[in-house]
Amino acid sequence: MAVEGGRDIAPAKGKLGVMLVGLGAVSTTFIAGVENVRRGTGLPIGSLSQIGTIRLGKRTEKRSPKIKEFVPLTDLTDLVFAAWDPIPDDAYTGAVKAGVLDRHEHLEPIADFLKGIKPLPAAFDQHYVKRLTGTNVKQGKTKRDLAEQLRQDIRDFKKRSGADRLVMIWAASTEVFLTPGPAHQSLQAFERAMEQNDPAIAPSMLYAYAALMENVPFANGAPNLTVDVPALQHLAEERKLPIGGKDFKTGQTMMKTVLAPAFKARMLGLAGWYSTNILGNRDGEVLDDPESFKTKEESKLGVLEYILQPDQYPELYGNVFHKVRINYYPPRGDNKEGWDNIDIFGWLGYPMQIKVDFLCRDSILAAPIVLDLALFFDLAQRARLSGIQEWLSFYFKSPQTAPGLYPEHDLFIQHTKLKNTLRWLMGEEQITHLGIEYYEKA
Ligand SMILES: NC(=O)c1ccc[n+]([C@@H]2O[C@H](COP(=O)([O-])OP(=O)(O)OC[C@H]3O[C@@H](n4cnc5c(N)ncnc54)[C@H](O)[C@@H]3O)[C@@H](O)[C@H]2O)c1
Repeated sequence: MAVEGGRDIAPAKGKLGVMLVGLGAVSTTFIAGVENVRRGTGLPIGSLSQIGTIRLGKRTEKRSPKIKEFVPLTDLTDLVFAAWDPIPDDAYTGAVKAGVLDRHEHLEPIADFLKGIKPLPAAFDQHYVKRLTGTNVKQGKTKRDLAEQLRQDIRDFKKRSGADRLVMIWAASTEVFLTPGPAHQSLQAFERAMEQNDPAIAPSMLYAYAALMENVPFANGAPNLTVDVPALQHLAEERKLPIGGKDFKTGQTMMKTVLAPAFKARMLGLAGWYSTNILGNRDGEVLDDPESFKTKEESKLGVLEYILQPDQYPELYGNVFHKVRINYYPPRGDNKEGWDNIDIFGWLGYPMQIKVDFLCRDSILAAPIVLDLALFFDLAQRARLSGIQEWLSFYFKSPQTAPGLYPEHDLFIQHTKLKNTLRWLMGEEQITHLGIEYYEKA
Protein backbone atom coordinates (compact mmCIF):
# COMPACT_ATOMS: atom_id res chain seq x y z
CA MET A 1 0.00 0.00 0.00
CA ALA A 2 1.37 3.38 -0.94
CA VAL A 3 1.02 6.02 1.75
CA GLU A 4 0.28 9.72 1.26
CA GLY A 5 3.24 11.86 0.48
CA GLY A 6 6.49 11.16 -1.21
CA ARG A 7 8.62 13.83 -2.71
CA ASP A 8 8.24 15.55 -6.02
CA ILE A 9 11.38 14.37 -7.76
CA ALA A 10 12.52 16.06 -10.92
CA PRO A 11 12.97 13.52 -13.74
CA ALA A 12 16.44 12.22 -14.62
CA LYS A 13 16.39 13.80 -18.05
CA GLY A 14 19.50 14.32 -20.15
CA LYS A 15 23.04 13.50 -19.15
CA LEU A 16 24.61 13.36 -15.72
CA GLY A 17 28.23 14.55 -15.58
CA VAL A 18 30.34 12.81 -12.97
CA MET A 19 33.32 14.99 -12.05
CA LEU A 20 35.97 12.97 -10.26
CA VAL A 21 38.75 14.51 -8.26
CA GLY A 22 41.62 12.12 -8.85
CA LEU A 23 42.02 9.82 -11.84
CA GLY A 24 43.80 7.00 -10.06
CA ALA A 25 42.94 3.37 -9.40
CA VAL A 26 39.42 3.90 -8.05
CA SER A 27 38.31 6.45 -10.65
CA THR A 28 39.66 4.57 -13.66
CA THR A 29 38.20 1.27 -12.42
CA PHE A 30 34.86 3.02 -11.99
CA ILE A 31 34.86 4.69 -15.42
CA ALA A 32 36.13 1.62 -17.29
CA GLY A 33 33.65 -0.53 -15.40
CA VAL A 34 30.69 1.63 -16.36
CA GLU A 35 31.77 1.58 -20.00
CA ASN A 36 32.14 -2.23 -19.95
CA VAL A 37 28.69 -2.58 -18.40
CA ARG A 38 27.24 -0.27 -21.04
CA ARG A 39 28.78 -2.40 -23.78
CA GLY A 40 27.54 -5.61 -22.21
CA THR A 41 30.99 -6.95 -21.35
CA GLY A 42 30.59 -6.98 -17.58
CA LEU A 43 28.06 -6.82 -14.77
CA PRO A 44 27.84 -4.02 -12.18
CA ILE A 45 28.41 -6.38 -9.27
CA GLY A 46 28.58 -4.68 -5.90
CA SER A 47 26.26 -1.87 -6.94
CA LEU A 48 23.07 -1.71 -4.89
CA SER A 49 21.57 0.84 -7.28
CA GLN A 50 21.99 -1.47 -10.28
CA ILE A 51 21.41 -4.94 -8.87
CA GLY A 52 19.57 -4.44 -5.58
CA THR A 53 15.84 -4.87 -5.11
CA ILE A 54 13.58 -3.26 -2.55
CA ARG A 55 10.65 -4.90 -0.82
CA LEU A 56 7.50 -2.77 -0.76
CA GLY A 57 4.45 -3.29 1.45
CA LYS A 58 3.65 -6.56 3.24
CA ARG A 59 5.58 -9.77 2.61
CA THR A 60 2.36 -11.26 1.22
CA GLU A 61 2.20 -8.59 -1.51
CA LYS A 62 5.34 -9.95 -3.15
CA ARG A 63 6.39 -6.56 -4.51
CA SER A 64 10.18 -6.32 -4.85
CA PRO A 65 11.16 -4.15 -7.79
CA LYS A 66 14.75 -3.36 -8.65
CA ILE A 67 15.83 -0.14 -6.96
CA LYS A 68 16.70 1.40 -10.32
CA GLU A 69 13.14 0.73 -11.50
CA PHE A 70 11.57 1.99 -8.27
CA VAL A 71 13.31 5.38 -8.00
CA PRO A 72 14.06 7.62 -10.96
CA LEU A 73 17.82 7.12 -11.27
CA THR A 74 19.96 8.22 -14.17
CA ASP A 75 20.57 5.41 -16.63
CA LEU A 76 24.19 4.36 -17.08
CA THR A 77 23.99 5.30 -20.76
CA ASP A 78 23.50 8.91 -19.68
CA LEU A 79 26.70 9.19 -17.62
CA VAL A 80 29.59 11.35 -18.85
CA PHE A 81 32.89 11.81 -17.05
CA ALA A 82 35.56 14.36 -16.26
CA ALA A 83 38.44 14.30 -13.79
CA TRP A 84 41.25 16.37 -12.32
CA ASP A 85 44.66 14.93 -11.47
CA PRO A 86 48.15 16.37 -10.94
CA ILE A 87 49.51 13.34 -12.85
CA PRO A 88 48.81 13.94 -16.57
CA ASP A 89 47.94 10.31 -17.51
CA ASP A 90 44.67 9.87 -19.39
CA ALA A 91 42.15 7.33 -18.08
CA TYR A 92 43.58 4.56 -20.30
CA THR A 93 47.18 5.06 -19.16
CA GLY A 94 46.03 5.49 -15.56
CA ALA A 95 44.01 2.26 -15.68
CA VAL A 96 46.93 0.32 -17.21
CA LYS A 97 49.31 1.66 -14.55
CA ALA A 98 46.85 0.92 -11.75
CA GLY A 99 46.76 -2.68 -12.98
CA VAL A 100 43.33 -3.43 -11.56
CA LEU A 101 41.40 -4.47 -14.65
CA ASP A 102 42.58 -7.02 -17.16
CA ARG A 103 44.13 -5.09 -19.99
CA HIS A 104 43.00 -7.34 -22.82
CA GLU A 105 39.53 -8.12 -21.54
CA HIS A 106 38.41 -4.81 -20.07
CA LEU A 107 40.72 -2.00 -21.24
CA GLU A 108 41.88 -2.54 -24.84
CA PRO A 109 38.34 -2.85 -26.27
CA ILE A 110 37.45 0.55 -24.79
CA ALA A 111 40.89 2.17 -25.17
CA ASP A 112 39.65 5.03 -27.39
CA PHE A 113 36.93 5.91 -24.95
CA LEU A 114 39.37 5.93 -22.02
CA LYS A 115 42.03 7.89 -23.90
CA GLY A 116 39.42 10.61 -24.44
CA ILE A 117 39.30 11.29 -20.69
CA LYS A 118 42.28 13.51 -19.93
CA PRO A 119 42.73 14.96 -16.47
CA LEU A 120 42.21 18.67 -15.99
CA PRO A 121 45.05 20.43 -14.14
CA ALA A 122 44.58 19.88 -10.44
CA ALA A 123 44.44 22.22 -7.49
CA PHE A 124 47.29 20.39 -5.80
CA ASP A 125 49.74 21.18 -3.05
CA GLN A 126 52.36 18.70 -1.95
CA HIS A 127 52.12 19.98 1.60
CA TYR A 128 48.87 17.98 1.90
CA VAL A 129 49.97 14.80 0.08
CA LYS A 130 53.66 14.41 0.79
CA ARG A 131 54.40 11.37 -1.34
CA LEU A 132 53.16 12.78 -4.66
CA THR A 133 54.67 15.22 -7.11
CA GLY A 134 52.41 16.59 -9.78
CA THR A 135 53.12 18.34 -13.05
CA ASN A 136 49.54 18.86 -14.20
CA VAL A 137 48.83 21.56 -11.67
CA LYS A 138 46.97 24.87 -11.63
CA GLN A 139 48.87 28.08 -10.89
CA GLY A 140 47.33 30.91 -8.91
CA LYS A 141 48.38 33.60 -6.45
CA THR A 142 45.85 32.57 -3.83
CA LYS A 143 43.79 29.53 -2.98
CA ARG A 144 40.76 31.57 -3.92
CA ASP A 145 42.18 31.96 -7.45
CA LEU A 146 42.50 28.18 -7.65
CA ALA A 147 38.92 27.73 -6.47
CA GLU A 148 37.74 30.17 -9.16
CA GLN A 149 39.65 28.16 -11.79
CA LEU A 150 37.91 24.99 -10.57
CA ARG A 151 34.56 26.75 -10.90
CA GLN A 152 35.44 27.65 -14.46
CA ASP A 153 36.36 23.99 -15.16
CA ILE A 154 32.93 22.94 -13.90
CA ARG A 155 31.11 25.43 -16.11
CA ASP A 156 33.25 24.49 -19.12
CA PHE A 157 32.65 20.75 -18.64
CA LYS A 158 28.93 21.26 -18.32
CA LYS A 159 28.88 23.19 -21.56
CA ARG A 160 31.26 20.90 -23.43
CA SER A 161 29.53 17.67 -22.40
CA GLY A 162 25.98 18.97 -22.70
CA ALA A 163 25.29 17.53 -19.23
CA ASP A 164 22.02 18.51 -17.65
CA ARG A 165 23.29 17.97 -14.10
CA LEU A 166 26.62 17.32 -12.38
CA VAL A 167 27.92 15.59 -9.26
CA MET A 168 31.46 15.75 -7.86
CA ILE A 169 33.20 12.92 -6.03
CA TRP A 170 36.57 13.12 -4.28
CA ALA A 171 38.42 9.94 -5.23
CA ALA A 172 41.84 11.56 -4.85
CA SER A 173 44.60 10.83 -2.38
CA THR A 174 44.18 11.08 1.36
CA GLU A 175 45.41 14.43 2.61
CA VAL A 176 47.28 15.09 5.86
CA PHE A 177 45.29 15.20 9.08
CA LEU A 178 43.49 18.49 9.75
CA THR A 179 41.09 19.46 12.52
CA PRO A 180 38.35 22.09 12.20
CA GLY A 181 39.59 25.56 13.17
CA PRO A 182 38.46 29.21 13.00
CA ALA A 183 38.87 29.32 9.18
CA HIS A 184 36.19 26.64 8.82
CA GLN A 185 33.48 28.14 10.98
CA SER A 186 31.72 30.48 8.54
CA LEU A 187 31.72 31.12 4.82
CA GLN A 188 33.17 34.57 5.39
CA ALA A 189 36.09 33.18 7.41
CA PHE A 190 36.58 30.41 4.84
CA GLU A 191 36.72 32.84 1.92
CA ARG A 192 39.10 35.14 3.80
CA ALA A 193 41.32 32.15 4.61
CA MET A 194 41.42 31.18 0.92
CA GLU A 195 42.52 34.72 0.05
CA GLN A 196 45.24 34.63 2.71
CA ASN A 197 46.51 31.18 1.66
CA ASP A 198 45.76 29.88 5.13
CA PRO A 199 47.18 26.32 5.57
CA ALA A 200 43.86 25.33 7.18
CA ILE A 201 42.35 25.29 3.67
CA ALA A 202 43.33 22.02 1.97
CA PRO A 203 42.95 21.51 -1.80
CA SER A 204 40.00 19.15 -1.24
CA MET A 205 38.13 22.05 0.37
CA LEU A 206 38.68 24.17 -2.73
CA TYR A 207 37.00 21.51 -4.87
CA ALA A 208 34.10 21.21 -2.42
CA TYR A 209 33.68 24.97 -2.31
CA ALA A 210 33.81 25.23 -6.12
CA ALA A 211 31.24 22.43 -6.47
CA LEU A 212 28.79 24.04 -4.06
CA MET A 213 29.20 27.48 -5.62
CA GLU A 214 28.30 25.90 -8.97
CA ASN A 215 25.29 24.04 -7.48
CA VAL A 216 26.94 20.64 -7.72
CA PRO A 217 26.50 17.99 -4.96
CA PHE A 218 29.78 16.86 -3.39
CA ALA A 219 30.68 13.47 -1.89
CA ASN A 220 34.00 12.73 -0.22
CA GLY A 221 35.47 9.25 -0.72
CA ALA A 222 38.60 9.84 1.37
CA PRO A 223 38.88 10.54 5.10
CA ASN A 224 40.01 14.19 4.67
CA LEU A 225 38.12 16.84 6.60
CA THR A 226 37.02 18.52 3.32
CA VAL A 227 33.28 19.19 3.48
CA ASP A 228 32.91 18.16 7.15
CA VAL A 229 33.19 21.74 8.40
CA PRO A 230 30.46 24.23 9.37
CA ALA A 231 31.30 26.76 6.62
CA LEU A 232 30.72 24.27 3.80
CA GLN A 233 27.81 22.55 5.53
CA HIS A 234 25.98 25.87 5.83
CA LEU A 235 26.80 26.70 2.24
CA ALA A 236 25.27 23.37 1.14
CA GLU A 237 22.14 23.95 3.22
CA GLU A 238 21.72 27.50 1.98
CA ARG A 239 22.08 26.45 -1.64
CA LYS A 240 19.94 23.31 -1.14
CA LEU A 241 22.71 20.93 -2.15
CA PRO A 242 23.48 17.41 -0.93
CA ILE A 243 26.89 16.74 0.59
CA GLY A 244 28.42 13.74 2.35
CA GLY A 245 31.41 11.66 3.29
CA LYS A 246 33.79 10.44 4.48
CA ASP A 247 35.93 7.60 3.14
CA PHE A 248 34.46 4.81 1.00
CA LYS A 249 33.64 1.81 3.18
CA THR A 250 35.10 -1.06 1.20
CA GLY A 251 37.14 -3.94 2.67
CA GLN A 252 38.33 -4.29 6.21
CA THR A 253 36.05 -1.66 7.70
CA MET A 254 33.06 -3.10 5.87
CA MET A 255 33.81 -6.43 7.57
CA LYS A 256 34.28 -4.67 10.90
CA THR A 257 30.88 -3.03 10.68
CA VAL A 258 29.34 -6.43 10.00
CA LEU A 259 31.15 -8.40 12.72
CA ALA A 260 31.12 -5.87 15.58
CA PRO A 261 27.29 -5.51 15.51
CA ALA A 262 27.03 -9.32 15.65
CA PHE A 263 29.16 -9.48 18.81
CA LYS A 264 27.14 -6.71 20.34
CA ALA A 265 23.80 -8.24 19.35
CA ARG A 266 24.84 -11.48 21.12
CA MET A 267 26.33 -9.60 24.10
CA LEU A 268 29.76 -11.14 23.55
CA GLY A 269 32.71 -9.22 24.97
CA LEU A 270 35.69 -7.86 23.05
CA ALA A 271 39.21 -7.71 24.43
CA GLY A 272 41.09 -6.63 21.35
CA TRP A 273 40.98 -6.16 17.60
CA TYR A 274 44.20 -6.03 15.65
CA SER A 275 43.83 -5.07 11.98
CA THR A 276 46.72 -4.95 9.59
CA ASN A 277 46.93 -4.52 5.83
CA ILE A 278 49.48 -4.88 3.07
CA LEU A 279 48.86 -3.05 -0.16
CA GLY A 280 51.07 -1.80 -2.93
CA ASN A 281 49.11 0.71 -4.97
CA ARG A 282 49.63 4.48 -5.07
CA ASP A 283 47.10 4.85 -2.27
CA GLY A 284 49.28 2.56 -0.16
CA GLU A 285 52.31 4.69 -0.98
CA VAL A 286 50.52 7.91 0.02
CA LEU A 287 49.30 6.29 3.24
CA ASP A 288 52.87 5.32 4.06
CA ASP A 289 53.36 8.96 5.02
CA PRO A 290 52.50 9.25 8.74
CA GLU A 291 50.46 12.43 8.27
CA SER A 292 48.16 10.92 5.63
CA PHE A 293 47.99 7.68 7.62
CA LYS A 294 46.81 9.62 10.67
CA THR A 295 43.77 10.83 8.68
CA LYS A 296 42.99 7.25 7.59
CA GLU A 297 43.62 5.85 11.06
CA GLU A 298 41.08 8.16 12.68
CA SER A 299 38.52 7.10 10.09
CA LYS A 300 39.19 3.38 10.61
CA LEU A 301 39.39 3.51 14.40
CA GLY A 302 36.14 5.34 15.03
CA VAL A 303 33.76 2.56 14.06
CA LEU A 304 34.18 0.21 17.03
CA GLU A 305 33.70 2.88 19.65
CA TYR A 306 30.35 3.91 18.19
CA ILE A 307 29.06 0.43 17.49
CA LEU A 308 30.04 -1.11 20.82
CA GLN A 309 29.05 1.78 23.11
CA PRO A 310 31.58 0.99 25.89
CA ASP A 311 29.94 3.50 28.24
CA GLN A 312 26.76 1.41 28.18
CA TYR A 313 28.51 -1.97 28.36
CA PRO A 314 31.70 -1.42 30.36
CA GLU A 315 31.92 -5.11 31.32
CA LEU A 316 31.98 -6.12 27.62
CA TYR A 317 33.69 -3.24 25.84
CA GLY A 318 35.26 -1.07 28.52
CA ASN A 319 38.79 -2.19 27.80
CA VAL A 320 39.19 -2.90 24.08
CA PHE A 321 42.65 -2.77 22.52
CA HIS A 322 42.07 -1.62 18.92
CA LYS A 323 44.96 -1.22 16.52
CA VAL A 324 44.98 -0.52 12.77
CA ARG A 325 48.06 -0.69 10.59
CA ILE A 326 48.59 -0.14 6.86
CA ASN A 327 51.83 -1.39 5.36
CA TYR A 328 52.98 -0.33 1.91
CA TYR A 329 54.10 -3.48 0.12
CA PRO A 330 54.55 -2.89 -3.65
CA PRO A 331 54.34 -6.50 -4.94
CA ARG A 332 50.65 -6.69 -4.06
CA GLY A 333 49.54 -3.69 -6.10
CA ASP A 334 45.82 -3.02 -5.68
CA ASN A 335 45.22 -6.53 -4.32
CA LYS A 336 45.21 -5.72 -0.67
CA GLU A 337 45.38 -8.32 2.05
CA GLY A 338 43.67 -7.35 5.28
CA TRP A 339 44.16 -9.48 8.38
CA ASP A 340 42.12 -9.16 11.52
CA ASN A 341 42.77 -10.91 14.78
CA ILE A 342 39.79 -10.54 17.07
CA ASP A 343 39.87 -11.57 20.72
CA ILE A 344 36.36 -12.01 22.05
CA PHE A 345 35.03 -13.52 25.27
CA GLY A 346 31.82 -15.28 26.26
CA TRP A 347 29.96 -16.88 29.18
CA LEU A 348 31.86 -16.31 32.47
CA GLY A 349 34.58 -14.50 30.51
CA TYR A 350 36.07 -17.46 28.58
CA PRO A 351 38.24 -16.20 25.68
CA MET A 352 37.84 -17.08 22.01
CA GLN A 353 39.55 -15.89 18.82
CA ILE A 354 38.41 -15.10 15.30
CA LYS A 355 40.79 -14.55 12.36
CA VAL A 356 39.75 -12.86 9.16
CA ASP A 357 42.02 -12.87 6.13
CA PHE A 358 40.43 -10.80 3.39
CA LEU A 359 42.26 -11.03 0.07
CA CYS A 360 40.41 -8.21 -1.53
CA ARG A 361 40.78 -5.93 -4.49
CA ASP A 362 40.52 -2.40 -3.27
CA SER A 363 39.29 -0.64 -6.36
CA ILE A 364 36.96 -3.49 -7.36
CA LEU A 365 35.18 -2.89 -4.06
CA ALA A 366 35.28 0.90 -4.37
CA ALA A 367 34.10 1.34 -7.99
CA PRO A 368 30.44 0.34 -7.41
CA ILE A 369 30.35 2.65 -4.40
CA VAL A 370 31.41 5.57 -6.62
CA LEU A 371 28.64 4.65 -9.04
CA ASP A 372 25.95 4.43 -6.37
CA LEU A 373 27.05 7.68 -4.76
CA ALA A 374 26.97 9.51 -8.10
CA LEU A 375 23.45 8.25 -8.82
CA PHE A 376 22.05 8.74 -5.32
CA PHE A 377 23.56 12.20 -4.83
CA ASP A 378 21.98 13.23 -8.11
CA LEU A 379 18.67 11.71 -6.97
CA ALA A 380 18.99 13.61 -3.69
CA GLN A 381 19.45 16.86 -5.53
CA ARG A 382 16.47 16.23 -7.78
CA ALA A 383 14.41 15.42 -4.66
CA ARG A 384 15.62 18.66 -3.01
CA LEU A 385 17.36 16.91 -0.12
CA SER A 386 20.01 19.28 1.13
CA GLY A 387 22.96 19.26 3.50
CA ILE A 388 24.45 16.05 4.90
CA GLN A 389 22.91 12.91 3.37
CA GLU A 390 23.04 10.65 6.39
CA TRP A 391 20.93 8.03 4.60
CA LEU A 392 23.99 7.32 2.45
CA SER A 393 26.16 6.42 5.51
CA PHE A 394 26.06 2.86 4.13
CA TYR A 395 28.85 3.84 1.77
CA PHE A 396 31.18 5.58 4.21
CA LYS A 397 33.66 4.51 6.88
CA SER A 398 33.24 7.69 8.82
CA PRO A 399 29.78 9.04 8.01
CA GLN A 400 29.06 12.71 8.42
CA THR A 401 26.09 13.53 10.62
CA ALA A 402 24.26 16.60 11.83
CA PRO A 403 26.05 18.32 14.75
CA GLY A 404 25.31 16.53 18.03
CA LEU A 405 24.39 13.18 16.43
CA TYR A 406 26.68 10.19 16.69
CA PRO A 407 27.20 8.33 13.41
CA GLU A 408 25.49 5.00 12.78
CA HIS A 409 28.13 2.48 11.65
CA ASP A 410 26.26 -0.85 11.66
CA LEU A 411 26.11 -1.85 7.98
CA PHE A 412 22.64 -3.37 8.28
CA ILE A 413 21.11 -0.40 10.09
CA GLN A 414 22.65 1.80 7.39
CA HIS A 415 21.17 -0.47 4.73
CA THR A 416 17.70 -0.32 6.30
CA LYS A 417 17.99 3.46 6.59
CA LEU A 418 18.93 3.78 2.93
CA LYS A 419 16.02 1.65 1.73
CA ASN A 420 13.53 3.32 4.08
CA THR A 421 14.64 6.69 2.73
CA LEU A 422 13.92 5.47 -0.80
CA ARG A 423 10.47 4.23 0.33
CA TRP A 424 9.83 7.56 2.02
CA LEU A 425 10.88 9.49 -1.09
CA MET A 426 8.44 7.49 -3.18
CA GLY A 427 5.54 7.61 -0.69
CA GLU A 428 5.73 3.92 0.25
CA GLU A 429 5.26 2.54 3.78
CA GLN A 430 8.34 2.21 6.01
CA ILE A 431 9.27 -1.37 6.81
CA THR A 432 9.69 -1.89 10.55
CA HIS A 433 9.96 -5.71 10.48
CA LEU A 434 7.38 -5.91 13.29
CA GLY A 435 5.22 -8.42 11.39
CA ILE A 436 2.74 -9.02 14.23
CA GLU A 437 -0.17 -8.62 11.83
CA TYR A 438 0.64 -11.98 10.24
CA TYR A 439 -0.04 -13.70 13.60
CA GLU A 440 -2.62 -11.59 15.45
CA LYS A 441 -5.50 -11.58 13.01
CA ALA A 442 -8.60 -9.66 14.04
N1 LIG B 1 40.00 1.65 -2.93
C1 LIG B 1 39.45 1.61 -1.78
O1 LIG B 1 39.04 0.57 -1.31
C2 LIG B 1 39.29 2.87 -1.00
C3 LIG B 1 38.49 2.83 0.13
C4 LIG B 1 38.30 3.99 0.87
C5 LIG B 1 38.89 5.16 0.46
N2 LIG B 1 39.68 5.18 -0.62
C6 LIG B 1 40.32 6.45 -0.96
O2 LIG B 1 40.03 6.79 -2.28
C7 LIG B 1 41.09 7.61 -2.76
C8 LIG B 1 41.52 7.10 -4.12
O3 LIG B 1 42.11 5.81 -4.00
P1 LIG B 1 42.95 5.23 -5.21
O4 LIG B 1 43.28 3.83 -4.86
O5 LIG B 1 42.27 5.53 -6.49
O6 LIG B 1 44.29 6.09 -5.10
P2 LIG B 1 45.27 6.53 -6.29
O7 LIG B 1 46.50 7.01 -5.61
O8 LIG B 1 45.37 5.49 -7.33
O9 LIG B 1 44.49 7.77 -6.96
C9 LIG B 1 44.37 9.00 -6.35
C10 LIG B 1 44.69 10.06 -7.37
O10 LIG B 1 44.42 11.33 -6.78
C11 LIG B 1 45.33 12.23 -7.33
N3 LIG B 1 45.34 13.45 -6.52
C12 LIG B 1 46.00 13.68 -5.36
N4 LIG B 1 45.75 14.94 -4.95
C13 LIG B 1 44.92 15.50 -5.85
C14 LIG B 1 44.32 16.78 -5.97
N5 LIG B 1 44.55 17.73 -5.07
N6 LIG B 1 43.52 17.02 -7.04
C15 LIG B 1 43.28 16.03 -7.95
N7 LIG B 1 43.82 14.80 -7.88
C16 LIG B 1 44.64 14.55 -6.85
C17 LIG B 1 46.63 11.45 -7.37
O11 LIG B 1 47.55 12.00 -8.28
C18 LIG B 1 46.16 10.07 -7.77
O12 LIG B 1 46.24 9.86 -9.17
C19 LIG B 1 42.19 7.56 -1.70
O13 LIG B 1 42.13 8.70 -0.89
C20 LIG B 1 41.82 6.36 -0.91
O14 LIG B 1 42.29 6.44 0.43
C21 LIG B 1 39.88 4.05 -1.38
